[in-house]
Amino acid sequence: MAVRIEQFMCRSDNFGVLLHDPETGDTALIDAPEEKPILAAIERTGWTPKLLLVTHHHADHVEANLALKQRFGLKIVGPEAEREKIPGIDETVREGDTIGFGNDDFRVIETPGHTAGHVSYYLPQSAVLFAADTLFELGCGRLLECGPEVMYESLKKLSDLPPDTVVYCGHEYTLSNARFALTVDPDNKALQERAKKIEALRADGKATLPTTIGEELATNPFLRWADPAIRKGLGMEQASSDQVFAEIRRRKDNF
Ligand SMILES: [Fe+2]
Repeated sequence: MAVRIEQFMCRSDNFGVLLHDPETGDTALIDAPEEKPILAAIERTGWTPKLLLVTHHHADHVEANLALKQRFGLKIVGPEAEREKIPGIDETVREGDTIGFGNDDFRVIETPGHTAGHVSYYLPQSAVLFAADTLFELGCGRLLECGPEVMYESLKKLSDLPPDTVVYCGHEYTLSNARFALTVDPDNKALQERAKKIEALRADGKATLPTTIGEELATNPFLRWADPAIRKGLGMEQASSDQVFAEIRRRKDNF
């Protein structure tokens, strides 16, 4: 992987991410949840961001936009569909747009579901995805502005990326996601093993992220709509995949 990545906690469970290309010196920030820990990460790494890529309009992803723009003069890029709601936005993007970064280009993947305009950012050559509140480790974002069929299509797009793609997410929700995942996929050995590792990491106060598309395909029930054992457990052997996804999401909402 050519790019270097610094992941750090913001607020109570948000992740901040700084990326840096050592060859070109390019530095970008994914979302701006909280000014203080972002400034600390910039100080620690010596990487000064010139670009802020926003995934969606929620306050815990844009709170520090204006303060950082004022301090670093960075360019703020975000989804066209949410331009009115993103403070300080300079440029908007849509599905398939690219944003030059180092020797790679960010590719914009529209992933509505959590919000109606949510986008994810993908660096194909470095094989890194920033999925924010669409895909979590062993989970997915809450459906605040869209129906389950919309989120299903977004997750399907992400699940088609190469399995070795490294995935960064917006929140550290993995432990509660793991406990829920075991209720719908109890006999999955890979999931059982993973849940043990997650318990240990969290007991040590360590982050569980990043993950990979391959690990999620093997263990995340929100991507395992085709799995016969999960379908059987839900009594949905004949249902369509988006119906299976919708039922799993409904159960998690009530978990
Ligand atoms: Fe959000």
